[in-house]
Formats: sequence, C-alpha cells, structure tokens
Amino acid sequence: KKVYHYREVDSTNRAARELARAGEAEGTVVLAEAQSAGRGRLGRAWNSPCGGIWLSLILRPKLPPYKAQLLTLMAAVAATEATAAVSAVTPGIKWPNDLMINGKKLAGILTEVSAEMEQLNYIVLGLGINANIPADWFAGELEQIATSIMAQSGEAVSRVAWVQAFLRNMEQEYMQAEQIGFEDVLKRWRRYSVTLGKGVDVQLADHRESGTAVDIDEQGALLVRTESGVKTFWAGDVSLRP
Ligand code: BTN
Repeated sequence: KKVYHYREVDSTNRAARELARAGEAEGTVVLAEAQSAGRGRLGRAWNSPCGGIWLSLILRPKLPPYKAQLLTLMAAVAATEATAAVSAVTPGIKWPNDLMINGKKLAGILTEVSAEMEQLNYIVLGLGINANIPADWFAGELEQIATSIMAQSGEAVSRVAWVQAFLRNMEQEYMQAEQIGFEDVLKRWRRYSVTLGKGVDVQLADHRESGTAVDIDEQGALLVRTESGVKTFWAGDVSLRP
C-alpha cells in the first residue's frame, strides 16, 4: 500500500480525493506534517500545525453510500484504541466521531463520499489528531474546547507508533466488517461513547432539538429521546449538556 507524505499540503483530504479520482488503490494513505487549509465538519476550518497527525485514507468499500457513516464510527473506534495503546491518554467518543478528553476535543474525522447512482465510488476518510501540540498553543478561545495528547499526558507520543496502531486497528475492523458486518464496531463504539445516556442539544440547519441520547442505530445514526418521542439524527452538531 502506498503512503504519500507531505511536509505541508492544503488538505490531505483534498489531495487524497484527487488521487482517488485518478484511480489510486484502496488503502492508500496521505499524511502531512502541516496543512495550510485543513477542513473540518460542517464547513469549518481545521487548525493543523506541526506536531499533529493529519491523515487521509482512501477506501473503496462495497457498501451502499448511506452506510458510509459506519466507516467514520469505525475510524473513531480505531483512533480511540490507538491512542490508549501508545499514550497515557484514554479518550471517549462524542457522536458521531470526535475524540474527547476531559470535555475537550482531541481529534476529529471528516469522511467525504463520492457516489453516483446509489453506487459508492470511493471514500476519503480524513482524521486529524492533536498529538504533540504543546498546551500553550491552545490559548484564547481554543483553550476551553481543544487539547492534545501531549497537553493531557505531559509527554510527546510517537506519531509513527500512533499511525501504525491506527492503521492496524482499522484494517482489522474493516476486514471483519466486510465478512460479518459492523456489529463489533457498534459494540466498541458504544463502550467508548461519552454521548449515550447524556442530555444533548442537537443543532440542525434551522433549529435545535434537546433530549437524552439513548443509542445509535445499525447505521450509526443517533437516537435521542425528546419530549415528542425518540428521534433519529443523521447529522448535526451535538453538544453535551452539563
Ligand atoms: C472535524 O470537524 O471534527 C473533522 C476534522 C478533520 C480534520 C482532518 S485532518 C486530515 C484531513 N484533512 C482535512 O482537511 N481534514 C481532515
């Protein structure tokens, strides 16, 4: 499998998408030391200084496009387990795929799907984890909302060991899911979840819903018990209520 490594690129997701469009194989990895235009979910920018791990993976799963979200949950589980394996930090997962520690965000995942006529063409799974970013870098408005492995554990983590552990976990889960489905991924996701059982606010494009997060369904959507019954959310910005 090929690994592309950049000192700096605008966005590894953008680079990976170009490679995927040109026919690059499943399993290709794109890594950058820094990104000048890192992208987050919901059209946000993603800060990507040196010291973090900015990675995109090209996948070509034989799945209908509506199941792509399950690969995002899979990556969140693989990243949680990689972090626990190579550092002293044990993150939890906030739905759908943020890695959290002490209420602050450690990592995020942005999955971009290319599909035509209900057929999945390729997926670019982008993951950013604040690995060795010093605590004082998160000054100002970031201080309350983001952190790094180094800031939490007090020591640098081997980024190579992290990437190896992540890719190993991911490959294992991916092959298992191809054969017997996503049950095990969902089970592990539930185990690491910091969302289930909590009061949540879900911000949608035009309104906000509140309730208690009760479960995820077999496609990875969030089920929230609201005053008007249990509702299913496919997307949206979830905040945990204190
Ligand atoms: C989020 O909003 O939580 C998702 C953040 C995803 C960031 C990663 S860094 C590597 C890849 N390239 C990008 O431009 N974004 C993703």
